[in-house]
Formats: sequence, structure tokens, C-alpha cells
Amino acid sequence: MDEQLIAAALAAREKSYCPYSGFSVGAALMGVSGKIYTGCNVECASYPAGNCAERTVFCKAVSEGEQKFLAIAVAGGSVGRSVTEYCPPCGICRQIMREFADPEEFRIVLTDGKNQKSYLLKELLPESFGPDHLEGGCP
Ligand code: THU
Repeated sequence: MDEQLIAAALAAREKSYCPYSGFSVGAALMGVSGKIYTGCNVECASYPAGNCAERTVFCKAVSEGEQKFLAIAVAGGSVGRSVTEYCPPCGICRQIMREFADPEEFRIVLTDGKNQKSYLLKELLPESFGPDHLEGGCP
């Protein structure tokens, strides 16, 4: 499963729109249904309006009806070049993962182009705040 997710993330990276950073990222997300969704980073001349690959893929998947996920693969590096370094997800993306995944089970799979490593979400976002904290509603 990890190999398939990494291959999908590398393919999605080819679609990246990153004229400002020159850093292309692809992500592939496995839903509990078994379906794999893909996304890339999409930048914008108004820089903060850009989106990371991970958030792109979560928005795509949720907008297609899936809301629980098992794993994500992320691959990033200089555009037009092969991946040579691990690309760990940024803090905002980790928080989006927390919204739609179980921190004890959701895995984040990274590749440096040769090797891979995986983490549980709880390792990359310890002591996290999530939807369960708002049970009973917001004031
Ligand atoms: N980026 C991602 O897409 N995911 C990450 O995990 C780290 C950073 C993007 C955002 C921006 O388009 C470019 O990489 C450089 O920060």
C-alpha cells in the first residue's frame, strides 16, 4: 500500500503549480473506502492564497464525499528534479489531518526518492487539539 501511495504522490507532483517557490509537492491520500485521492501544491501571486499539496488533497477528497482517512504519502523537491529529500508536512497541514483522521492510526509516509519512512499522526502532532474538544458545541 505504501509503494502505491508514494507512486501516486510522485505522479501528482508533476501537476504542481509552483512558479514562486520552485518547490513542487505531490500528495496521495487513502480513504477508509480504499479510494486514493491525489493533489499538488497550487501557488498564487498573492502568496498566502496558495495551498499545500496535502490540503489540496484533503479538500478534494472531502468534497467528493469521503471524511475518514488511513494514510497519506507526500513527495516534494525542486521542480523539474527528482525527489532527493524527505518533505514532511507543514504544521497547518498536520492540523487538517487531525480533523479527518485518527492520530493513533493515521500514517504519514515520506520518501526521499530511494527510501521511505512513516510516522503516526500522533508522533508529528502530539497533544493535539481536535474536533473531540468541541463536543457539546462551541459557546
Ligand atoms: N508545500 C507543500 O505543498 N507541502 C508541504 O508539506 C510543505 C510545503 C508547498 C507550499 C509551497 O507551495 C511550497 O511547497 C514551498 O513552501
